[in-house]
Amino acid sequence: MSYQIAIDGPAGAGKSTIARKVAKQKGFIYVDTGAMYRAMAYYLLTKNVNPNDAQAIEETCQNADITICYEAGEQVVLLNGENVNGVIRSEAVGNMASASSPNPRVRERLTLLQKELAKANNVVMDGRDIGTCVLPDADVKIYLTASSKVRAKRRFDELSEKGISCDMQQIESDIIKRDEQDMTREVAPLRPAEDAVLVDSSYMTIDEVTDVILDLCEKRKKRKEL
Ligand code: DC
Repeated sequence: MSYQIAIDGPAGAGKSTIARKVAKQKGFIYVDTGAMYRAMAYYLLTKNVNPNDAQAIEETCQNADITICYEAGEQVVLLNGENVNGVIRSEAVGNMASASSPNPRVRERLTLLQKELAKANNVVMDGRDIGTCVLPDADVKIYLTASSKVRAKRRFDELSEKGISCDMQQIESDIIKRDEQDMTREVAPLRPAEDAVLVDSSYMTIDEVTDVILDLCEKRKKRKEL
């Protein structure tokens, strides 16, 4: 049986950085489910689908074959056989992902792939609905969060480092809007699973959060062995 670590939480809480580190330490694969929703969104954008047209999203998503593979330990997302890692991180793709991810047909297709990956491999999987919907029996479930101010500051620093000028208040209001969308949607809303451990990373370092998760894995292992 595979070992499954589920990490959910809002955008900017540090999920991918932490999940990647935990996966490395444990020798598991890291599955970034947000990247799959982004690949689907990218496909919809290339087909000029209107983000408000649920029917067009439903129909068009059937033609997107999304899979993942690993190169040097890094997840590569393939959209109809093509590596799209380099084109899915833009704001436009993020906004389309936010608009299209509530669609039940989109979720159905991607959730199936995520469940298959976790059945065949030991995984650290991050997203919004991993502990609640995708892997309800995960061995360890984490709900990783941080205040919107701290998340905005992290994003601001990230963009500034790349030489991109931006406005911190605008970033924070975008984050709050995205949280609201993810938490209030009908299908698979963002919320902590009942058995998830809540971790607030606002005033924690990456290593501290990683250690909390690794400790939980050890405790869970011991409990299983008792
Ligand atoms: O984590 P991210 O920003 O790369 O995610 C992109 C979008 O996909 C975001 O709007 C939430 C959505 N998403 C989702 O609905 N379910 C997941 N398991 C992962 C991401």
